[in-house]
Amino acid sequence: MLSDIDSIRQDIEQFSSSDYNEIERFRIKFLGKNGLLPKLFEEFRLIPSEEKKIYGQKLNTLKILATDKYQLLKNQYENKASIVSSFDPSLPSTPLKLGTRHPISLVRKEIIDIFAKIGFTISEGPEIEDDWHNFSGLNFAKDHPARDMQDTFFIQTNPEILLRTHTSSVQVRVMESEKPPIRKIFPGRVFRNEVISARAHCIFHQVEGLYIDRGVSFADLKQTLLFFAKEMFGEKTRIRLRPSFFPFTEPSAEMDVSCSICNGNGCNVCKYTGFVEILGCGMVDPNVLEFSGINSKNYTGFAFGMGIERTAMIKYQVNDLRLYFENDIRFLKQFTSIL
Ligand code: DAH
Repeated sequence: MLSDIDSIRQDIEQFSSSDYNEIERFRIKFLGKNGLLPKLFEEFRLIPSEEKKIYGQKLNTLKILATDKYQLLKNQYENKASIVSSFDPSLPSTPLKLGTRHPISLVRKEIIDIFAKIGFTISEGPEIEDDWHNFSGLNFAKDHPARDMQDTFFIQTNPEILLRTHTSSVQVRVMESEKPPIRKIFPGRVFRNEVISARAHCIFHQVEGLYIDRGVSFADLKQTLLFFAKEMFGEKTRIRLRPSFFPFTEPSAEMDVSCSICNGNGCNVCKYTGFVEILGCGMVDPNVLEFSGINSKNYTGFAFGMGIERTAMIKYQVNDLRLYFENDIRFLKQFTSIL
């Protein structure tokens, strides 16, 4: 009988299962009416009384072991079952928080979409540029102040290499590698050595435009920009061109749009002038065409360049440039529904 007790104890200790049927078989085998333990208790009644004490203790311990084990297995199974049964696959899942588009990306896309309607495609150029594409190829004089270290980030070990200060550099790259007709825009990031404030930043974004073909005139430039302004700021928008100077265009102009906030009546956004400045433009200087191998007797062209931050500021009336770079989600999420 003693050896029976030991081998049964081992069997109980080693048993493990999370399957309901097996746990039930365990109960029947050891604790059931005809199970091994009741059988041992039957035999116990027949042994001589002087041996009863030692067997009695062993049998009781074995019974406690078996019932505890059975309880434990049953509890484990029921816990698992309750987790499984509380899982409802038809419930909606926890919503994923979607990000929002950055206002600069929204305005960039809007500008691209507007020019796409009138046949402008996109090209991009490098942010790390050489002097030729950023300055010399655009007719900047060797002593032009834009080349100053105060304005431009140069690579310390090589003053020929710099961070582009405008997307006009892409004009040169495209004219060098493509033949007219060219009708393209160049969106991108630009860098200037500016102290960061509400109105200036050392990194910002521009979209450049270039159209070169036979017989392109200033009237084409004006009409293209008027189309853009109306699409961007509304049908009622008026434009105004003021004479200006850029080394790479002749004649050059700056364009203002009527203030979309006050409809040109005067408010603090337009500083009570009714107009806000939006871009620089002009007819591509014949020198610039020739530098890039385009015959200026056969071809003319216009170019323009605008700041994306500036356009976003006018569109959304956010007048502190730093907000566009801080990426505070309380600021960013306000622009979701705009596009
Ligand atoms: N590159 C000029 C700037 O960053 C903007 C500009 C002016 C671009 C006139 C042009 C242009 O293409 O024709 O201030």
